[in-house]
Amino acid sequence: MARILITQQLVDGGLDPLEGHNHVVVAREATTPIDRTELLELAPSLDGIVCLLSDTIDDAVFAAAPNLKVVANVAVGVDNIDRRAAARHGVVIVNTPGVLDASTADVAILLMLAARRRASDAEADLRAGRWVGWGLSDHLGLDLSGATLGLVGYGRIARKVATRALAFDMTVLHHTRTPTGEPGWTASLLELAAASDILSVHVPLSAETRHLVDVDVLAAMKPSAVLINTARGPVVDEEALAEALGNGRLWGAGLDVYDGEPTVNPRLLAAPGATLLPHVGSATVDTRRAMCRLAVRGALDVLEGFTPENIVAPPEE
Ligand code: GLV
Repeated sequence: MARILITQQLVDGGLDPLEGHNHVVVAREATTPIDRTELLELAPSLDGIVCLLSDTIDDAVFAAAPNLKVVANVAVGVDNIDRRAAARHGVVIVNTPGVLDASTADVAILLMLAARRRASDAEADLRAGRWVGWGLSDHLGLDLSGATLGLVGYGRIARKVATRALAFDMTVLHHTRTPTGEPGWTASLLELAAASDILSVHVPLSAETRHLVDVDVLAAMKPSAVLINTARGPVVDEEALAEALGNGRLWGAGLDVYDGEPTVNPRLLAAPGATLLPHVGSATVDTRRAMCRLAVRGALDVLEGFTPENIVAPPEE
C-alpha cells in the first residue's frame, strides 16, 4: 500500500485510475500550489506525488522523501521539477504527452489569428465604445493564408500546428538543433525568424532554451511578423519582445505563457498588438481530464512495479 499526495484539486474523473487500488491518497482540495512547508512536512511519508506545473518539486523535496518513487506532473512540461535531483534520488518522473497536443495546437492557431487580425485591440475598441461604424480602413489585419509559419521546435505539438497551418494555406518551416531530415527544416533560428511571417515557439524550457528567442531573433523578424508562444514564458526574452512591440518593430504577439506567471510583465500588458491568454493551451474539459488520468495512471504504474510509457527520460549528464 502506497501513500500518494495529490497536491491540488484535479478535474472531475481525474482520480478514476485510483479506483479499486488499495492506496492511501492524501488529496489537497486547494486549487493553489502547495505551500513549501506543507510539502516538506508531508514528504517523509510519501511514495508518490501527483502535482501540477505550478508546484515546485526541488532537491529539498526529494531529500526529505526517502520513500518517494514517482512524481507525476499533470503537464507535459516538467520544468517545475528538478529532474537531476529526481534522477539522483532514483525517483521516476511521469508527464502527460500526447493528450494535450491538439488543444494546445488549437490555441497556437487561435493566437495567430488573433494577433494577425488584431482581434484583441479591435474587441477592446468595441467594448470601450470607440467603434463608431464600419470603416473601410479600420482594424486592418494580416491574413494567415499565404503566410510563412516558422516553428521553433518540431515535437508533437508543433506538428499538430503544422497540419492546421497547411489547412490555412500557409507554408510551414521548422527549426531544430539536429536536422529532422524533413522538408522545411531550417538550420539557423535567425534564418527561420527572417523567413517567417509567424514565428511560433514549441520547445521545452531548459538551460539551453531560456531566452532562445532573444533580441537578435526578434530583430531578425520582419516588421510585419508576429511571435506566438504557447510553450514556456522564459523561452522568450519578454523585455526585448515588449520593446519590439512598443516601438512598432514587430506587428504583434500572441502569448499564452509568461516568465514568472501568473505575474505578467506590465510592458507586455501595455504593448500594442499583443493578445495575451492566461496559460490555457490545454484547457478543455476533455484534455484536462485526460491529462489528470494519464498522470495518475503513470504514478500508479510506477508504484505497482510497471513501466508506463509516459516516463520522462532523465536529463543527459
Ligand atoms: C502545459 O503547459 C503543459 O506543459 O502541459
